Amino acid sequence: MANQDQVQEHRIDQFSVGPGARADNWRFLVDAAKAWSEGSGSRNRFDALFAQLEVTEEYHGYPGLRLMAALKEAAASGDASATAALATRILQSLQTRSFRQHANDWDIHDDGERALTDLLPPSLGRTESHRPYFEVLIVTGVAATNWPNLCAEWRRLRRPLDTFVYEPVFVGSFEDAFCATMINPDIAAVIINEGFAQKSRHDAPVLRTLTASIEPLGTTDSALRLAHTLKRVRPELDLYLMSNRNVEQLAGNPEADVLRRIFYSVEELLELHLAILEGVQDRFETPFFDNLKKYAQRPIGTFHALPIARGKSVFRSDWIRDMGEFYGMNLFLAESSATTGGLDSLLEPTGNIKKAQEKAARAFGADHVFFVTNGTSTSNKMAVQALIGPGDIVIVDRNCHKSHHYGMVLAGAQPLYVEAFPMTEYSMYGAVPLKTIKQALLNLKSENRLDRVKMIDLTNCTFDGHIYNTRRVMEECLAIKPDLIFLWDEAWFGFARFSPFLRPRTAMGAANDIEAWIHDPKSVQAYEKQRAGLGDNPSDDLLLRTRLIPDPRLVRLRVYQTNSTHKSMSALRQGSMLFVKDVEFHSVEQQFKEAVFTHASTSPNQQLIGSLDVARRQMELEGFGLVANAIEIAFAIRQAVAANPLISKYFSILGADKMVPAEYRESGFVDFLAPGANWAIARRSLQEDEFCLDPTRMTLVCGTAGFDGTQFKGILANRYGIQVNKTSRNSVLFQSNINNTRSDVANLIRVLAEISGEIDRTLSQGGANARKTFDARVKSLMTDVPDLPNFSRFHDGFRGDAGEKTNEGDIRSGFYAAYDAAGCEYIRLADAEIDRRLKSGPELVSASFVIPYPPGFPIMVPGQVITQETIDFMRKLDVKEIHGYDATEGLKLVRPEALAKRGERHSRAHGIKAAAE
Ligand SMILES: Cc1ncc(COP(=O)(O)O)c(C=O)c1O
Repeated sequence: MANQDQVQEHRIDQFSVGPGARADNWRFLVDAAKAWSEGSGSRNRFDALFAQLEVTEEYHGYPGLRLMAALKEAAASGDASATAALATRILQSLQTRSFRQHANDWDIHDDGERALTDLLPPSLGRTESHRPYFEVLIVTGVAATNWPNLCAEWRRLRRPLDTFVYEPVFVGSFEDAFCATMINPDIAAVIINEGFAQKSRHDAPVLRTLTASIEPLGTTDSALRLAHTLKRVRPELDLYLMSNRNVEQLAGNPEADVLRRIFYSVEELLELHLAILEGVQDRFETPFFDNLKKYAQRPIGTFHALPIARGKSVFRSDWIRDMGEFYGMNLFLAESSATTGGLDSLLEPTGNIKKAQEKAARAFGADHVFFVTNGTSTSNKMAVQALIGPGDIVIVDRNCHKSHHYGMVLAGAQPLYVEAFPMTEYSMYGAVPLKTIKQALLNLKSENRLDRVKMIDLTNCTFDGHIYNTRRVMEECLAIKPDLIFLWDEAWFGFARFSPFLRPRTAMGAANDIEAWIHDPKSVQAYEKQRAGLGDNPSDDLLLRTRLIPDPRLVRLRVYQTNSTHKSMSALRQGSMLFVKDVEFHSVEQQFKEAVFTHASTSPNQQLIGSLDVARRQMELEGFGLVANAIEIAFAIRQAVAANPLISKYFSILGADKMVPAEYRESGFVDFLAPGANWAIARRSLQEDEFCLDPTRMTLVCGTAGFDGTQFKGILANRYGIQVNKTSRNSVLFQSNINNTRSDVANLIRVLAEISGEIDRTLSQGGANARKTFDARVKSLMTDVPDLPNFSRFHDGFRGDAGEKTNEGDIRSGFYAAYDAAGCEYIRLADAEIDRRLKSGPELVSASFVIPYPPGFPIMVPGQVITQETIDFMRKLDVKEIHGYDATEGLKLVRPEALAKRGERHSRAHGIKAAAE
């Protein structure tokens, strides 16, 4: 966060400085103006701050050209109190966002009073509805001196009938257009007039490191290039091109696809105005939610189930009326078990749910979307069921969410578990190295079983924030098997679509990039060149070392993504989406229908579906700014913890360098907060590195303060009302999201400072003993950590027809072995029998999933052979919640006799197979 005392240099290309920093800068300016007017400051300081701020304020509609000029004039005339008054008024308007509604805010003279109700959510303050506000970027070659007149002209187009109100923002160059799009989250549409300049008159050294190699183009090409660039940064924006040339020809150019409309010259100003409003209306419309609201207002007699619908039994009751009062009437009016009357069926959508899903597909860059109302747990099971049949091999991260493992059981798939890199010191896993995945594929290939592997199933980003290089993973795997399906569990990462930095590393972002690459003629050449270089029979070693290029002519791009919309966007709990980008979707569409029928409730909650629709609307209209804010807040927390001398004595937040081993940071990226880091460096890391860290996921090490994760989570929740995401033995995970504000940061930092202060006092007042106890506790938490056990193997009785080199297994038979009570036994963890069996056999084979929380990955899956490492890990675990394990009964194991029977069957099956071969 900015420091009040410094006049920091502002550049137009400082994109990691988000909306919060802008507010800070205005606050500093107001403070400087007040100090000047009170005699404790100077005009010089005000001028210096103003000159810095002025640069990027050009990209915002408010305060705009007139108010900025007025402020500058007031200062130039030496009128300190007028300067302070105007600056204060602008700041207040920005803070309350009242300029969006109040015309007076735009006037140079106003009383400066702002109502408190402007700060409150609408339901607590003003009740009349208001027109949403946005800004339109106009890129033009017209001289800047004419912009105020043009601005006035645009404003004259406003009509009381308009659903929205917008303000134009003018820029004169490619660079300024790019920077404005990155900096101003209110921009919802861009008008590109041909004839703009290339370079900004401001300095943009970081931006120019990227644009230096770009060659100058002709007018139209330059406009199209700008359109493509802006679309890449913010795909949700509507782009309009104003041209005086051959617009018919331009309109037929496939490159012009990124434009919503092309207009011939400025004659069509009113048309353009209407087109802009229509474009925003298209994003604003929420087909299902809009209809649900209408439905709630109709008088409807219900003679079917769901008595709660319409709320009569609630509001007339003496006994449950409080429920009605608590939730409000609309919840009941908007409830129905009907799929008619303007509503639609989630199980077989043909009406407004279908339309809502189509809009979500557009927003998230997918071809199809399924709305799911039972969390991503269900989305994952649906995807696995629809895409995988019995016996299909799936390469899957063992550390993935349990829904995938259960999905494999249901589908009868053979999971081939691959291991993420361990982060033993923090009792957590990273992500699965690409080399491991390629090795698994090459092993299968060497045994002629590549045809059996259908899918790669990975978590992006992981719980702790490891982001895959999704594009690279898919390209390299497709180079080995061109029809592989990818299932990316992006439960936590749905928001990333709306960050230009993170989007390329999402499943859909990468899939779209790969799709474009497939159609680029240069790709075949690149592939052929690599193939010639590798020769006819490249060794595994060479293939593992090479960044493989797939054959674009053979690739069948099949990508699926699931995300918990409720985890990172404004959907109600359990709202989830399943995205499809699959050229073979037609061949599995029926299977998806079956998967929906299998998993979706026949009574899906209307509010959940409505909230998915609305979450999409929000992200398309303000997701960019909200995500930028979440990232900025994460940086602020990271910076505050590192910079605070008291807090940093006991706590630290792990940077990218700590979370991602150097071998996976090929670009040399260290951390977002490292000296000299800027967005161009971060972007390179995001483009090249095998793994990156999602900055919004912050692992706070608390073991160094003498707390284990669970204990610290309890303290934060019970004493301070702060909830955290997950814990490990010595850390807790904080997550910033689109809901966080600067006040949340301040509160967290205050709490950490208070706790650090307490530790300090206890240690300084407790004498040598207190210090000794503290050090011992820290040592135990930070160094006495159990090794993370790898997946061992499936017992031979559960290996199905697995090959020699890979460890896939028939998890479904393992799972159902537990249903045979006589074939199972229980042994307590502390029982010496465990050690005896580990030493001398017979082997211990788990009959169930055992999933401790934390860390949350299955340390045993059904049919898995239990090893000494697994037992050591379990015995050292100090967590209370272990799913699938009852401490009083002990470990549930498949009895050796039952295994022997399975073993015989297995040998017979294999014998027969071998004989047949
Ligand atoms: C990686 C991952 N996938 C899926 C899920 C399940 O999502 P939901 O809670 O929406 O069912 C979770 C939940 O924590 C998760 O962490």
